[in-house]
Amino acid sequence: MRRRKFLEWAALSSFLGFSNKSWATSPSLGQEECKKWEKPLVISTWNHGMDANAAAWELLSKGGKALDAVEKGVMVTESDPTNRSVGIGGTPDRDGHVTLDACIMNEEGDCGSVAFLEDIENPIAVARMVMEKTPHVMLAGKGAQLFALQNGFERKDLLIPETKAAWEKWKKTSNYETPVNIENHDTIGMIALDQAGDFSGACTTSGLAYKMHGRVGDSPIIGASLFVDNEVGAACATGVGEMVIRIVGSHLIVELMRQGYSPEKACKKAIERIMAKHKSVEGQQVGFLAIDRKGRHGGYSIYNGFNYALRTPERNEMVETKYMKKW
Ligand code: GLY
Repeated sequence: MRRRKFLEWAALSSFLGFSNKSWATSPSLGQEECKKWEKPLVISTWNHGMDANAAAWELLSKGGKALDAVEKGVMVTESDPTNRSVGIGGTPDRDGHVTLDACIMNEEGDCGSVAFLEDIENPIAVARMVMEKTPHVMLAGKGAQLFALQNGFERKDLLIPETKAAWEKWKKTSNYETPVNIENHDTIGMIALDQAGDFSGACTTSGLAYKMHGRVGDSPIIGASLFVDNEVGAACATGVGEMVIRIVGSHLIVELMRQGYSPEKACKKAIERIMAKHKSVEGQQVGFLAIDRKGRHGGYSIYNGFNYALRTPERNEMVETKYMKKW
């Protein structure tokens, strides 16, 4: 009986002209909806996403793969010394170390990540190498650094004079107490849909400013900061990583989209889940972004002020998300 149903579906798929492997598992998508896709498409967190999207667009607009686009896109932010929450120029932990977390995921469900990585400018490229050259998903600390150095990455001091001076100043008044969310902005999360109809995503950060030494946030955790399922879509996160990890936010959003929620509604549901599961979210920001198989995109945050950079064949702009609370 099951075999007959499968054969009927296969015949129908072929009649409708479905050729993409992932469409075969998405029978609710009709041909008309597929025609409406605005492809390629890339979105990324915060204003720094505009420059990152531009680099991703170089590849996407020429038919490049989403995986290459998201890697090259977020590398722009990692290498920007004026950005205080990603890569070089990132704010250090309370002991003066810049420690980086990053992860990447492709349309096949392959993924790689690095955590607590020091002295390497582009952790996202190391994460991709973990995915492609090792049997593992995550490398951390000294092991991740050794792997990077052995694979041609250069050692670089990521604590620049400006962030060193700010840290010295912070030490004088802080009593060594780590703040929870000093910036209200952090992390670049980027998700993309390429011309071939494949999703990929990347996420990279220097984490919370003046965090405890050894603290790792959501950004290297697949399912928390980032999740891609080519049958459904992709989601990514920014903000206080501890809250995102507790609800495995990005995976939750992809599963909600699988159940039929639009990207914005799925992101809103995840924010509601965070608020329901925490006694207080006072002063703590989290924002989510998502894209679904129809090419729809959206986001949601706890507080106002979260936005995302959008690039499509028609649009190149910042989009404000809806939110639960006002600062
Ligand atoms: N979302 C970045 C972090 O919490 O480290």
